[in-house]
Amino acid sequence: MRSFGQDTRAADLRPGDDPTVGEGPRRSREELPREKLALALISKSEEDPDSRVKTGQTPRERTEPLQTAFDIAGLSVYYGDKPALREVTFEIFARQITAVIGPSGCGKSTFIRCLNRMNDLIPNARVEGSVRFEGQDIYAPEVDVIALRRLVGMVFQKPNPFPKSIYDNVAFGLRVNGMARRKGDLDDRVQKALDKAALWDEVKDKLRDNALSLSGGQQQRLCIARAIAVEPEVILMDEPCSALDPIATARIEDLMQDLKQDYTIVIVTHNMQQAARVSDRTAFFLTQVDESGSRYGQLVEVDDTDRIFTNPKDQRTNDYITGRFG
Ligand SMILES: Nc1ncnc2c1ncn2[C@@H]1O[C@H](COP(=O)(O)OP(=O)(O)OP(=O)(O)O)[C@@H](O)[C@H]1O
Ligand SMILES: [Mg+2]
Repeated sequence: MRSFGQDTRAADLRPGDDPTVGEGPRRSREELPREKLALALISKSEEDPDSRVKTGQTPRERTEPLQTAFDIAGLSVYYGDKPALREVTFEIFARQITAVIGPSGCGKSTFIRCLNRMNDLIPNARVEGSVRFEGQDIYAPEVDVIALRRLVGMVFQKPNPFPKSIYDNVAFGLRVNGMARRKGDLDDRVQKALDKAALWDEVKDKLRDNALSLSGGQQQRLCIARAIAVEPEVILMDEPCSALDPIATARIEDLMQDLKQDYTIVIVTHNMQQAARVSDRTAFFLTQVDESGSRYGQLVEVDDTDRIFTNPKDQRTNDYITGRFG
């Protein structure tokens, strides 16, 4: 069974940092206790697959059984004493794209940040309930949050490359994590990540150029390459296309279809057409108001995307997807 080892250095990070590659702790893999890394990197094949295998199929061409990536149970998040999310319970399946939709302020970003403990970086944020990733409680005290965030990477709404060369952006996490010992190895991994992010052909002749010279869509693909380079299992994307034009958006959407062969993807999007186009499953969140007037987000329903957009179970989902409110 996978483990993420010992305690966190989250306090060393700032909100908005990409802790796997950003200005987070500059701790090389060699500095981490060996057993911690070994545990964090145990391959899936050593786990008991039967414990997580589900029956059934996604609506989209998948024939093998689904495996649970995240098992979320009774998840509530508070900022200070204000609830932002209450009692969210559902599973996210591996190697699928799960879309999270709902009106502004319903807790989508709050939710997605729970999946790699990015909320730890927000003062006042408090998480209750449980989030299991591949069977392990990621909020357990012994979890190594940096190792977790390497496995569960994140791409933000606004492309945020470092003001460094294209090459160094992708190499950064590999260097911080001590994942390439020789220059040739580093070069190979950088190329592989850029290739997977569908950017290699556009940048191969200018790897030393500053990343900020790229277009917005290229910068976002660079951020995806940077996330992929450290070999995560999950990519969380919080509105990754909202700053992009339709052509760049279409490229990212195509890329997501390629990436889901290897990765579990969770995408927050305001764009319902995008959710319908790219995702296998969709989770719909909505803001509720309790007796005391507190507003909080709640999961209304989660289902196969085709079903959510054609025949949802809950009237509120139907109202939202048909544009009646939100
Ligand atoms: N850092 C924070 N401190 C305090 N409250 C916060 C913080 N981040 C979010 N909230 C509150 O939590 C609630 C959910 O916010 P969140 O950003 O998760 O919503 P969202 O669904 O992602 O919205 P949007 O679609 O506008 O991005 C909101 O009421 C928001 O004001
Ligand atoms: Mg948000």
